[in-house]
This record gives sequence, C-alpha cells and structure tokens, in this order.
Amino acid sequence: MSVAHETPLESLISRRGRNVPGLRMGDPRKSAELISFYAGFPDRDSLPAATVIEATRDALEAEGEWALQYGHGLGNRRLAGILLAKLKRDFGIDAEPDQLLITAGASQAIGLAIEALVDWGDTVITEVPTWMGAVRAFQNAGATAVGVPMNSGGTDVDALEATLARLRGDGITPKFIYTIPNFQNPTGVSTPRDRRERIVELAHEYGTFIFEDDAYADLRYAGERIAPIYTLDSRGTTVYFGTLSKTLGAGMRLGWAVGHPSLINKMGALKVDGSTNVFGTYVAAAWIPQYLDDHIDELRTIYQSRRDIMLAALEQHMPPGTSWTQPDGGFFVWVTLPDGIDTTAMAPQARERGVEYLPGAACHVNGDGHNTLRLSFSFARDAEIPEGIRILGEIIAGELAESGQRPATS
Ligand SMILES: Cc1ncc(COP(=O)(O)O)c(C=O)c1O
Repeated sequence: MSVAHETPLESLISRRGRNVPGLRMGDPRKSAELISFYAGFPDRDSLPAATVIEATRDALEAEGEWALQYGHGLGNRRLAGILLAKLKRDFGIDAEPDQLLITAGASQAIGLAIEALVDWGDTVITEVPTWMGAVRAFQNAGATAVGVPMNSGGTDVDALEATLARLRGDGITPKFIYTIPNFQNPTGVSTPRDRRERIVELAHEYGTFIFEDDAYADLRYAGERIAPIYTLDSRGTTVYFGTLSKTLGAGMRLGWAVGHPSLINKMGALKVDGSTNVFGTYVAAAWIPQYLDDHIDELRTIYQSRRDIMLAALEQHMPPGTSWTQPDGGFFVWVTLPDGIDTTAMAPQARERGVEYLPGAACHVNGDGHNTLRLSFSFARDAEIPEGIRILGEIIAGELAESGQRPATS
C-alpha cells in the first residue's frame, strides 16, 4: 500500500507522530546500483557470512533452547561479558555487567538514553555537524538541540564552555552533551585527550551528562588510541555507546550502552521488546571470540586503502577552493565547497550521473552546512571511487563556473 498523506483519524496522531519526517534509512540495495558515498554502510564484500553460518550452528547446537527464547531485560548476559572484556582490553573501559545494556544497534541505545533524560522541549548540546541519526533522534524527542562547532582539532571546547555559560544565564541546564570523539561522523575528525578532559570538566561544572558515541572505535588506520571520555570521567556521568554494525555487520542490529547502573536500568525498563534480538546475541556471542579480532584486522586494511584511494582522488579531481578532512579512522571524509554552492540542490545532478553523497545540511541542527558534503568511503568498491570523485569534481567545477567563481575547466 502506498503511503497516504493523512492517516485515518489524523487528529489522534501524537505530537511525535505528527512531527516526524519520512523514513530515515536509505536502502543499501538501491545504493549498490550507484557509486555510493552516501551512507555509513559497511563494505559488502567482506561481511563475514561464512563464519556467521559457523557461529549460528555453534550457538544453536550449544544453546538452541535459549537462543530461540525471550531474553534478559538488559540483553544476553554472556554477550555482555564478552563485550565488557573487549572494552576493557582494547579501550580501558572498566564496567560491570549491570552497566551494559544490549540494544538494536547504537541507534536504539542513544534513543533510549534520550528517552530516559529528555522531556519535550528540553535542551541538549551536540556537535555541529554531527551524525544525521542523532539529529533525527533529538527531533523525535522534541529536544531543542544547541550546536557547538567541530573544528579541525575536534570539538570546539571554548565554544562548548561559552554555550554552557549562556544557557546557564538563561536558566537552562542541558540534559547532555552528545559527542563522537573518534573519527567523527560526519567530519572524520578526532577530539584529542586534552579536549576530552575539558569536556568532562565542563560537564561536571555545569551538571550535565555526556553521551560518548564511539561507533567507529575499532576502525583506526593511523595515530595512537585516545582514551575514551568514559575512562576520564570519575563521576559516572558519561554514557558510552558502541556497536557491532561496522564490524560484524549492520544487519545484526546489535549495539550497546555502558553507563551508571541506575541509568542503564531505566533505559532497560523503557525498552519494551522482550530483549534485544536474542537469537542474534547468541550468534554474536559465539562469533566474537573466534573471529572478531582477525576480522577487524582485515577491515582496517580494506578501509585504510579505500580512504587512501578517496583522498588521492580528491586531490586529483576537486577544483581549487574546495577542502576536505584527512580521517585517521572511521568511514568519512568531509568536504567544504566555496560559499554559495548548495550541495542539497546539487545532489540530484550527481545521482543522475550515478553518484550519491550526503548533503552536509542533514548533519546540522542549526540550518547551516549548505556548502558541505559528507563522503563515505566504506561502501563503494575500490575501483569505483576515483570515477565517482571525478564525476563529483566535474559537477562542482560546473557549479562554480555557473556561480561565476571558477572556470569549468579548473
Ligand atoms: C556516529 C554513529 N553513531 C551511531 C550509529 C548507529 O549505528 P547502529 O545503530 O547501526 O549501531 C552510526 C551509524 O552509522 C554512527 O555513524
């Protein structure tokens, strides 16, 4: 059935229901028909289907009666233990099982944390630009999202301090500061340790939570690991979000939140679903100990090479006046075009020529970003990337010429 404009009994639809725009997710199968730099979809060719078959057999043979049953309110406790051991070993995160809630991806964990804290009209702080899904989650909750800029050195902590002080002056305590400190989505920029420490100090001083979204934690291609904010916060006011989407596979829809047990408990209680994908959690618990580390090594090689191919192609094909970031990890390069070029208006032209990207305005809570765009290097195949960037370079050069800024041949 096609979607009608109005539901029968439209007047009964909630404020949330009325406010919500269209579906958020794109369709990976449709994107696969194009040279797609649009979404943070994982590489299709390395998704570990063969080993997941093995792990599924192992899980069902060992514990079929529990894998196909309802599950624990905080999610499969064996998987929780495996995840906690990994978080400790790899990131120095020290937490107990009652501090970890397993969710349908980090998306659901972030949604539940918002649900536990935000009443309609409350204020939250977020980086600008930020992950489009978070922008949508803030909107869904009726939150007023106040932006703090990202700059080339990460979250602008001076701007954060000024924002917190201004809000305090207006009698407003924001519920949380949402940050993506590693290989940020969409900029690819990482926030260094001194700024992370400052974020913690400011959160304590102003009495607000920190939401640390570390979706790309395992995918570092250069530079040293930086301590997670969670480990720098001695007061338990940081909620740390992670996911298996970018490693085991986004289709598993498995992520988590780690935080103060009381908040985690509230988030678990708000989650009315009979436990997260119980079957998938048993498969993941069988798969991770056998395969995850090797798989991450393989992914690092694949994505590092894709990042390098994309950066070289940008160097070759982008017209003068454009700039872009150099990520140490993750999936994204952030491109800034001269003022006056509107990347939302330009997107259909690119699609027509078989290329898609994310217009930067979608990552802004403040209506800015019209001359920016996000390029994901995770999903397009190696051989497609230079061609896609060449086409984008041509389109941008054409737009610049049209706006009188540069010759089309530059
Ligand atoms: C920064 C960030 N956070 C969270 C997510 C959500 O991931 P998932 O719900 O698949 O775990 C994504 C996915 O693209 C992301 O980029």
